[in-house]
Amino acid sequence: MTSSQPTPERIMQLINGYWATGILGAAASHALFTHLASGADTAERIAERAGISERGAQTLLDGLVSLGLVESHGAGYRNTAEAAAYLVEGQPTCLSSFARLKLTHMGSLAALPEVVRAGGPVTDAAVEVADNPHWEEVVPAIAAQSVPVATAAADLLGLADAGAVSILDIGGGSGIYSAIWLGLNPAARATQLDWAPVNAIARRLLAQRGVADRFTCIDGDFHSTGFGTARYDIAVYSHIAHQEGPEDNVAMFAKIRGALKPGGTLVICDFVVDDDRGGPPFALMFGAEMLLKSKQGGTWRRADYRGWLAKAGFEEVSFEPTPSPATLVIAR
Ligand SMILES: C[S@@+](CC[C@H](N)C(=O)[O-])C[C@H]1O[C@@H](n2cnc3c(N)ncnc32)[C@H](O)[C@@H]1O
Repeated sequence: MTSSQPTPERIMQLINGYWATGILGAAASHALFTHLASGADTAERIAERAGISERGAQTLLDGLVSLGLVESHGAGYRNTAEAAAYLVEGQPTCLSSFARLKLTHMGSLAALPEVVRAGGPVTDAAVEVADNPHWEEVVPAIAAQSVPVATAAADLLGLADAGAVSILDIGGGSGIYSAIWLGLNPAARATQLDWAPVNAIARRLLAQRGVADRFTCIDGDFHSTGFGTARYDIAVYSHIAHQEGPEDNVAMFAKIRGALKPGGTLVICDFVVDDDRGGPPFALMFGAEMLLKSKQGGTWRRADYRGWLAKAGFEEVSFEPTPSPATLVIAR
């Protein structure tokens, strides 16, 4: 057999891909990365700190070594740099609660063959229904994903030195953009439009960060709520475009254009697909999540954004990479 011949190894790994979700989700559930960071470096010590069996701790460590999140180090183990940066609790970028949440979603993938046949959700898993409690679980868990992106967007916009700007965050969720941006710019004010229970979560975060006095919420459906006219310098549409269909995205972009002052900026964050649908890998895969959970959503191509934004009256559009699988689309 020559080295160019295919082997079944990668396909075996893919077939068992749920092992990765399970091992990572279980490790996050028992704060294994946090225990490693604070010096518990063997299965025995981790078992003791986490209150789990030693056999279980060793199994998780083996799995995490296989996944490249933990490495053996002398007689013990340590987090890799990636795990240390993104899985240790107590840091704003920690993705552990997201890993725990995704573990609970794993069973829903079994419906994918039927979802593919039907062309959309086959259970009540569709997320666009008003005030879906799904969001209250999801938004705190995904906030960490937006930390590096919101920080990169602030740099791109020169936000810290922008003075008394007004910001509208549509479907702002946890309030993470407002929390970071108001923290960077003491003269900025932000308004978040989201469902009432989600806005309550955001208010708590903004209060924790000491910037709640410059943060206002509007409770309601962003499809039917007016955004006002020429009121904002910056609008944010982060991880919303993928749950909406083309017509709704155009309608939202037009409403946002009207709400922005002349020269104002729309910041879109999403998993954007190349025009030839050749990548990037994360954005291509994320489409399955939207097929499962939304009636019209998907991962959209750069050309889709360009076309929709032009129809909505935006003249300049640029695509900016971020330190995450998401792309920033900046439109003026
Ligand atoms: C995927 S989360 C994104 C949260 C945030 N923008 C971020 O990037 O972290 C989608 C958000 O949109 C809100 N949302 C979804 N549909 C909505 C609607 N029709 N009206 C108001 N808010 C909505 C959800 O409650 C949730 O907070």
